[in-house]
Amino acid sequence: MTDVDDDAWREIAAQWTFAPGVTYLNHGSFGPPPRMVLEAREAWLRRVAGNPMEYLTRGIEQDRYLGEARQSLAGLVGCSSDDLAFVENSTVGMNIVANSFSLRPGDRVLATDHEYGAVLRLWEVACAKAGAELVVRALPYPIESDEALVAQLFAECDERTKLLVVSHVTSPTAVVMPLEMICAEARRRGIAVRVDGPHAIAMRDVNLPSLDCDFYVASLHKWLCAPFGTGFLYVHPRRQAEIKPLVISWGRTPPGATKSWRDEFFWLGTRDPTGYLCVPAAIEFLANVGWERFRERTHLLAQYAKDLIVELTGLPPFVPDEVQWYGSMIALPLPEGDAPSLQRALVRRFGIEIPIIAWQGRRFVRPSCHLYTTRRHLEQLRDALRHLLAEKY
Ligand SMILES: Cc1ncc(COP(=O)(O)O)c(C=O)c1O
Repeated sequence: MTDVDDDAWREIAAQWTFAPGVTYLNHGSFGPPPRMVLEAREAWLRRVAGNPMEYLTRGIEQDRYLGEARQSLAGLVGCSSDDLAFVENSTVGMNIVANSFSLRPGDRVLATDHEYGAVLRLWEVACAKAGAELVVRALPYPIESDEALVAQLFAECDERTKLLVVSHVTSPTAVVMPLEMICAEARRRGIAVRVDGPHAIAMRDVNLPSLDCDFYVASLHKWLCAPFGTGFLYVHPRRQAEIKPLVISWGRTPPGATKSWRDEFFWLGTRDPTGYLCVPAAIEFLANVGWERFRERTHLLAQYAKDLIVELTGLPPFVPDEVQWYGSMIALPLPEGDAPSLQRALVRRFGIEIPIIAWQGRRFVRPSCHLYTTRRHLEQLRDALRHLLAEKY
């Protein structure tokens, strides 16, 4: 066990400054960068403004600065930088996959009922266009074992099932999926896998080649704390030939380099590259803290949140209390009631920013814990919920 004591983390927590009166427990939706990353961004903005030709033309054409940033990211997720393209966020990455993956009439795309709403929506559109069908499969509730989860997910698959859409860490329910087992089962059945991974980067130790998925998309502005508007698309080499961009621009290969699927992604018209250029600074920040130390501290906080809220509501979590199933964020059941009005009351009356989630007829509170989170913040949440639930919110 590493230090669970809030005092030991005070200096690191001081890297973040929130608006007065705000208790921020929603890193899972939007993870603000620490001061060190904000300063790196300012420095890059000044360099780019000092000579746009170097950073927006020659540097891009020769894949210099962004190439170094991609190398740093590739080191974090264990793959070749040739298999990665920067995109603004998971949503864009996912749209690129949906625009590229060939579906025929009668084909099926399988998804779990824990997927992010916008992801289900974009696959509905892609399936409707192709005359294919999106099948949303309910997973066991409560979740008790990875074997039972995997068996239920694949129970009704057949030769029509061409693609599986699955989160690494789910959005409404914060479940860490048994992804290795899911990918292995999909491979055994000849089903391509597209992973939605924005919550997993930094929260988990991600090694893309060992997952052997076909596509993996992620946002880096969540747990990694890179600037907002930074994410990536990973495409396994066996799939790269079929990838099509959403935006057509010059599509140039850097001089001396061999032609690559990424040629279509490194110039999409004039844009601000400084967010991507700060990805190495975000990686360095958490590497300096220590990846396992970060994960352990934030998991212990999530576990503390669970203890407080379960004691308040009497409603047990729906995943086993093990780090295999949840990391730095946890979704805890609340008594029945309206989710948006409770979320609004938490902000308005207590200054607490946290999602209250309505999912499959249930209501959850989803605290996120990062390095600025303290046990006091979680106790404030418990006390505010106690007030509001007593008022029948
Ligand atoms: C699982 C999951 N997928 C996709 C997204 C969309 O991320 P972004 O808005 O960065 O594209 C989110 C956002 O919370 C998410 O939780």
